[in-house]
Amino acid sequence: MCGIVGYVGPGSSLDVLLGGLKRLEYRGYDSAGVAVLADDGTIGSRKRAGKLGVLVDELDAAPITDGRTGIGHTRWATHGGPTDVNAHPHFGDGGRLAVIHNGIIENFAELKAELIADGEVFESETDTEVAALLIGRAFRETGDVTAAMQQAVARLEGAFTLLALHADAPGVVVGARRSSPLVIGLGEGENFLGSDVAAFVEHTRRAMEIGEDQIVTIRPDRVDVTDFSGAPAQAKEFEIAWDASAAEKGGWPSFMKKEISEEPEAVANTLRGRVHDGAVTLPELDEVAGMLGDVNRVLILACGTAAYAGMLGKYAIEAWARIPVDVELSHEFRYRDPVLDERTLVVSVSQSGETMDTLMAVRYARDRGARTLSICNTQGATIPRESDAVLYTHAGPEVAVASTKAFVAQVTALYLLGLHLATLRGTLAAPDVAGVIAELESVPAKLSTVVESASARIAELAHWMSDTQSVLFLGRHVGFPVALEGALKLKELAYIHAEGFAAGELKHGPIALIEPGQIVFVVVPSPRDPSSLHKKVVSNIQEIRARGARVIAIAELGDVAVVPFADEVIRIPLAAPFFEPLLTVVPLHIFGMELATAKGLDVDQPRNLAKSVTVE
Ligand code: G6P
Repeated sequence: MCGIVGYVGPGSSLDVLLGGLKRLEYRGYDSAGVAVLADDGTIGSRKRAGKLGVLVDELDAAPITDGRTGIGHTRWATHGGPTDVNAHPHFGDGGRLAVIHNGIIENFAELKAELIADGEVFESETDTEVAALLIGRAFRETGDVTAAMQQAVARLEGAFTLLALHADAPGVVVGARRSSPLVIGLGEGENFLGSDVAAFVEHTRRAMEIGEDQIVTIRPDRVDVTDFSGAPAQAKEFEIAWDASAAEKGGWPSFMKKEISEEPEAVANTLRGRVHDGAVTLPELDEVAGMLGDVNRVLILACGTAAYAGMLGKYAIEAWARIPVDVELSHEFRYRDPVLDERTLVVSVSQSGETMDTLMAVRYARDRGARTLSICNTQGATIPRESDAVLYTHAGPEVAVASTKAFVAQVTALYLLGLHLATLRGTLAAPDVAGVIAELESVPAKLSTVVESASARIAELAHWMSDTQSVLFLGRHVGFPVALEGALKLKELAYIHAEGFAAGELKHGPIALIEPGQIVFVVVPSPRDPSSLHKKVVSNIQEIRARGARVIAIAELGDVAVVPFADEVIRIPLAAPFFEPLLTVVPLHIFGMELATAKGLDVDQPRNLAKSVTVE
């Protein structure tokens, strides 16, 4: 979500900034901008909606004076649509201070009101402009960009990386970091800042990490790092192990591997700013509060991975808000004369927001009087624009065609919607809502544990199975959609026949498929769950094992009951039942990717598929 680059040194700022932005474009590409301080003390800036190429054309058509101090930004819009005005940089101190930002300033509304009351004028709809004006005001008091940054960040809540330069401070760029990425590139007589090392790896392989809540000031010949109170801080230097050609993926071998590693961040960013003091706050749904209070049925429409997220949404919304929920593939929906009325809430789930099947289904539902809510990852896409309300997932741009991090973000958004409806309808007491929120908030850290602990072993398993012809996946209750998602990933990525089944359905047919050596992944429910599902699934494992299946169980830590019956157990941290799918899905995403890799396939662009399917 947004790419950031900063430069001080004798070279051409514009070359460094535009080169860095090109390699950061995977982070967002709805608008881009630069600000460069020229030797005559003036700041030249250009910013344009659209991909980086639009900015480059603008700079050709209306050049600015190059200089030795500069900042550049590529945006993935959160606050304010992708327009020229909302593009970064934003300005403070009467245009003499330029600021770029990645993240979300959660208390921007209060700060904005305070600044307006004090006579400041805003040009954009962004939260970033609040930071620009605050740093600008602090600069007028202190005359120093670092001190001004220090004063301003003390007022900000949320997640942010900020970079600033001031016309009165040539050769200085100041950065601040809280819960958003920022690294330093160390050159000879020049220094760099970037959202990741991709921004500057073409110029230097020496880099430094900046810790949480730290401020960095770069000059051509020195780098100073402090904490937010100004006390000197240590920063760890490291050597970048790869070259510039890998940089477009931020150093990852594939976008898919990078995106799986971002699953924890996708959940955290989708929650950010939406849960406070044990309650859910979804201001984007305020305008439709009346409609939501009136709903007597929910219909979730989606395709592919998004439909499996929808199934999890159904289980949670029904359990928490006590509203009947159906999930339907968008392309099946409108051809069967469905029953709809104005009390039906149609929730579409789409990463791209452009999937034609889902768009047509939403239009059909809207034309027949249903209310429409879009859960979408792409700001300003068609489906959210045509819906009554939108709840954006904040998974960041997903480049690999097969969806991974968007899935966990969609589930998170559906769970937030479920809690919101439960609160509106009074079906969950406040302490129960708070309990669910606490579980949700613990998911990102648990997800990181799964990514770290499971990756190496799953890669070994996948390499060992690279000539496998068929894999089955079993799950029950919330484990069932996970089984379907595991099978879809394997089909999409590794071109292997794969099927996901509800474990209870096994005895009604699929068990006939089991023959010696058949690999079966089983998503095992927690033994701590008061239902008897764990025992039933363990029985299913015994049934297939007795017929020669090779079982890979995905089970929580400490579940010893599965051990005697599984050839391999992949462990996940303990979580309440609704949150297990957010963890158990990760090993299956990794498995699909690793098996495709073992077969020498392109995991980012599988054959015959497209990221955004705009035909019916
Ligand atoms: C395509 C992609 C899938 C995705 C589906 C729905 O088929 O290959 O990965 O799940 O579309 O896409 P959407 O953008 O609507 O979530």
